[in-house]
Amino acid sequence: MTMIIPTELVLTTFSEPVCNSIVIIFAMPSLQPHQSRLLDQAHAFLHKMALDSRFSMSETDVSRRLSAIEEEIARSGTYKHTATELQFGVQWAWRSSNRCVGRHMWRTLMVQDCREIRSRSGVVDALENHLNLAWQGGAIQSVISVFAPRDPNRVDEPDPVRIANHQLLRYAGFEQADGSIQGDPHSFDFTQRMLQQGWIPNRRTAHTPLPWSIWINDLETPPVDHFASRPEQFPEVDITHPQYPGIDALGLRWYAIPVISEMALVIGGITYPCAPFNGWYMGAEIAARNFCDPQRYNLVQRMADAMGLDTTSNRNLWKDQVLIAINQAVLHSFDQAGIQIGDHHELGAQFEKFCQVEEKAGRPLQGDWSWLTSPVSGSITPQFHREFENSVEAHTNFFYQSAPGVDAAARRSEEESSTSVRSKDPFDLENHHETPRCPFGYDKHSKVLPFGKPSALKKSQSQS
Ligand code: ARG
Repeated sequence: MTMIIPTELVLTTFSEPVCNSIVIIFAMPSLQPHQSRLLDQAHAFLHKMALDSRFSMSETDVSRRLSAIEEEIARSGTYKHTATELQFGVQWAWRSSNRCVGRHMWRTLMVQDCREIRSRSGVVDALENHLNLAWQGGAIQSVISVFAPRDPNRVDEPDPVRIANHQLLRYAGFEQADGSIQGDPHSFDFTQRMLQQGWIPNRRTAHTPLPWSIWINDLETPPVDHFASRPEQFPEVDITHPQYPGIDALGLRWYAIPVISEMALVIGGITYPCAPFNGWYMGAEIAARNFCDPQRYNLVQRMADAMGLDTTSNRNLWKDQVLIAINQAVLHSFDQAGIQIGDHHELGAQFEKFCQVEEKAGRPLQGDWSWLTSPVSGSITPQFHREFENSVEAHTNFFYQSAPGVDAAARRSEEESSTSVRSKDPFDLENHHETPRCPFGYDKHSKVLPFGKPSALKKSQSQS
């Protein structure tokens, strides 16, 4: 099948078939090299979308849409995703996240379209609504809020909206008089920054929720201590163990919803620098890593003491006993609170099925072994025994990016030296950005929601 070929234009043959076995040959106005690259990425993305039966796109639909995108790029240098493309795009980006052992649930990710929001108060309302959508009384829904895209022609321009927080819900890390850190050491720098920017915490504990740092047009706005006035939006679980009362006495807790807020989302070559997304936790993330990593809460010795273990020699495997007990405690406590959480056996088995489907379909098994394999009991999960190809799906994915302050400073100095190249555009793989982390979700179809007014949480969690 052949498409329309305007005369004065450069011919491009797409080698990949779009739907079944049709080769589309069509023409495009003479685009600049970076514009052709964008068109290629849009094409690669639409090709994936056309293969998804939910969107029932015919070849004609695909080629028509590609022509429209091509014209839009020729005219404006960029193109705007339709609501449906945004929905599929965020889902495909999750599916492409090589480090995520929950990505078999990619079709369940729900989108909140926030592309028109430009004000700090608008962002706060959207984030509040995001948390309401995600919470569902503990039956957590995977949600992503997509804010304004970056204009690919003007990557030197300020980003309309950025969030500097690593996650929307996170504990502060305060420096104490003796130099030690109270709370989460991972948050130490960010906490300092918030204090310098005028944040006055209600209280300083090992579990003080951080404020939000919202940037509008490269300008940092004052910290928003949202959870101080809306504690019910920060649902938490007290950690207890069915057999070790000593663990209960440690007073550990963790928040219910992981919402990564610092990564860039790329769909069909368009970068969305602010797109916070959540899934739900796998127990080992909290238990093995957040509680037991030496550079985090570092609780192995304290846990062992609370359990009354003999810690004089490693040979009795007391550390391993601690790791299992804390994992049991986290799963038990979330279950008791009625809040969704996965375990490494369940998720590992589900992900293994996804791998088998991929293999059967003859698609390469993309993944990052060191992230897919559980930090506890690795070899008794299926991922340990597999090999993955860690190649990155560049046109649609999540990427690390520099913090908004770093980006803004780089752009200011570029302005001064009159260059206009953003040093670390997230989808420019030559900048060696790391491959992405993951959100989780569950098996339900999702739909694009227009941004609306927040509704109340169905169930609030106690705070202390
Ligand atoms: N590992 C991170 C944490 O412990 C969360 C990363 C995203 N995880 C998820 N299950 N969606 O906070």
